[in-house]
Amino acid sequence: MGILEDKDNARLFYRYFSRVYDTINPYIWDDGMRNQALEWFDADRDDRVLDVGAGTGFATEGLLNHVDEVYALDQSRGQFEQAFRKFGKHGKVRFHMGDAERLPFKDDSFDKLWSSGSIEYWPDPVAALREFRRVVKPGGTVLVVGPDYPKLRVFQKLADAIMLFYDAEEAEEMFREAGFEETRHFIQQRHRGSPRAITSVATVPESDGPSDDPGVEADRDADSDANDD
Ligand SMILES: C[S@@+](CC[C@H](N)C(=O)[O-])C[C@H]1O[C@@H](n2cnc3c(N)ncnc32)[C@H](O)[C@@H]1O
Repeated sequence: MGILEDKDNARLFYRYFSRVYDTINPYIWDDGMRNQALEWFDADRDDRVLDVGAGTGFATEGLLNHVDEVYALDQSRGQFEQAFRKFGKHGKVRFHMGDAERLPFKDDSFDKLWSSGSIEYWPDPVAALREFRRVVKPGGTVLVVGPDYPKLRVFQKLADAIMLFYDAEEAEEMFREAGFEETRHFIQQRHRGSPRAITSVATVPESDGPSDDPGVEADRDADSDANDD
């Protein structure tokens, strides 16, 4: 497990990295890649959308070109401070401090869920994907962007030491284990030689009813505000 696949380490990392995130991010994950992923996401104006690991709001901003309102969740206050500057604290973005693996929302709360560049930090990605299946309505879309596994052995060792990198086969395994039946995986890249992203687009199975899993805290308040934490 990589050093940043630890929630405390990731939180500490983003306390400082949040200050330069928007300067560095476009070299890895840029407007073109985000806009292509938004096409696959195919949101309608009135869809209720959750952005998990929303950070400084790079993807949230893109989502707001397609939907009226976005719920944004992140575990880093530093990242959200940057997002507050862009969107205000009480505008079209509803901020929630929280953990991807334990979402503070009731079953079937959303039409669609987006998560870009965050899965690589989660110690148990399958648990988070199960949470996504729980909070999104049957037939709804879940889109996850993560880093594609490097081809060169020297980069593989480095990648494994830092965070989760995975290929399409591993992505398919994670989504299946989390209960998704239909998932498409796409490789995205800014240009030849730059880091590749793997973007997975899944549909929540129609057979999914409200969960009767006693581990689910169905009474967690979906409207609790990031500022209240
Ligand atoms: C690379 S940034 C991605 C930001 C944004 N989604 C984008 O597309 O630019 C990763 C974000 O995931 C958040 N994150 C990491 N682990 C998390 C967890 N367990 N729960 C919620 N957010 C998490 C980090 O705080 C950080 O803001």
